[in-house]
Amino acid sequence: MRAPLPIRQVESCALRTILLRPGADLVGFRSALRRLVADGVPPERVTWSIGDAPGLFGDAASAPSTAAAVHLPKPVAGLIPMAVPHRDPERYALLHTLVRRVLAGERHLPEVASDPLVHRLNLMRRAVARDLHKMHAFLRFRRTEDADGERFVAWFEPDHHILAAAAPFFVDRFRALTWSILTPEGSAHWDGAALTFGPPGRREHLPAGDGFEAGWRDYYESTFNPARTNLKAMRAEMPRKYWRNMPETAAIPGLVRAAAARTAQMIERSPTMPAKRDPVRAVAAMADQDPKTLDALNAIIKRSESLVPGATQAVLGEGPVGATIAFVGEQPGDQEDRQGRPFVGPAGQLLVRAMADAGVDREASYLTNAVKHFKFEARGKRRIHQKPTAGEVSHYRWWLDRELDFVAPKLVVALGATAVLALTGKAIPVTRARGPFRFERLDNRQGFITVHPSYLLRLPDEAKAEAYAAFVDDLRRVAELGRELAA
Ligand code: URA
Repeated sequence: MRAPLPIRQVESCALRTILLRPGADLVGFRSALRRLVADGVPPERVTWSIGDAPGLFGDAASAPSTAAAVHLPKPVAGLIPMAVPHRDPERYALLHTLVRRVLAGERHLPEVASDPLVHRLNLMRRAVARDLHKMHAFLRFRRTEDADGERFVAWFEPDHHILAAAAPFFVDRFRALTWSILTPEGSAHWDGAALTFGPPGRREHLPAGDGFEAGWRDYYESTFNPARTNLKAMRAEMPRKYWRNMPETAAIPGLVRAAAARTAQMIERSPTMPAKRDPVRAVAAMADQDPKTLDALNAIIKRSESLVPGATQAVLGEGPVGATIAFVGEQPGDQEDRQGRPFVGPAGQLLVRAMADAGVDREASYLTNAVKHFKFEARGKRRIHQKPTAGEVSHYRWWLDRELDFVAPKLVVALGATAVLALTGKAIPVTRARGPFRFERLDNRQGFITVHPSYLLRLPDEAKAEAYAAFVDDLRRVAELGRELAA
């Protein structure tokens, strides 16, 4: 006669039915898993059943288990909470199989993406992650007020059982508020101190639209970029089913209809945007822009994008059209950006003083910059000047050339290396080229190269007086040249 099987083995041969709660019963699954592993029950002997009360054969999985915790490799432990919320009814059985194989020695199984079991579970994990992302991104609260005060309520229809997994994100974000999230499967409630879960909600339970919604719509309209309108991508990222709960989507059909026209306008308004990376294309774009006057050119500059977010405005050149002498600086500084006028900050004031000392009439001269926007780095409340790159200088060169065409000065003074780069297209050191210069790019126009006034400001005190005197000397020669050319 054969010896009786040990109890453990008898158990493992018996069929087990595990009863889990509807939705994502992570606690129940973990508890059942502990028992199944402790008892050595293979997956093919387990039936996973979903319901609220233990059935005829059901083992209520959430019943306290005395089985020891199962130590799983990290990738498996991490996969379980991401696969359990999936809608696939086989998710628990698949996870049990994975755990069983890993514990039987296939420790690196989760890394074998080609294994059909791993592949399927990975797809589940990705689908749940996507669903969580959508819920975090597309859920919109509506404000309401009842006897208990202000409350925010949202309705959302996830694809998977993710409410419990998604809720902590909203606790983090809206900790100070009182809110409820209603879904067809259950609801989550935060009272400012505790997160609780309750029965399903209905869309009709949502309070009527509020001022909050207009805010979302305004925000969306202001950030919508018509040039990037790609309906296919838009639908993939924000499927239509979410639209009805998102106030801002009411604006989408209108925005999409107007996108082509708005894109054309944008191209017209920002002709040099491609120049940041591709000057050749920018020049081609410019060719379509044919401003006939300095004012028309300035209107284009005014509407263009700044180099860095936060610049207040484009700072245009200043002075009479037909001025004999044009001064070209680098870019507006902090003061110029705030006031919208060139050379009004410390370096500009020094230039104006030196012009006066040298006998150059400021009012009769034209003052402008190679780059029309203030480029800076924010450090606390301070905005620290940043030198424009060669690419950025070339981005603005088209404008500078046209500007000088309209003003038609007889003499162009380059103040510092950036102006030299803009006017010549070459990085010529100021120290080498200081003095009279012919600008080949500007029909061989008479030029003069000198230092930038901000260079004088940066010198140590003991060197300032001499450098200033040399600068004024340069400007005296500029004045003389100007008189000769005007004669
Ligand atoms: N202010 C300007 O407008 N341009 C400069 O180059 C420096 C200061």
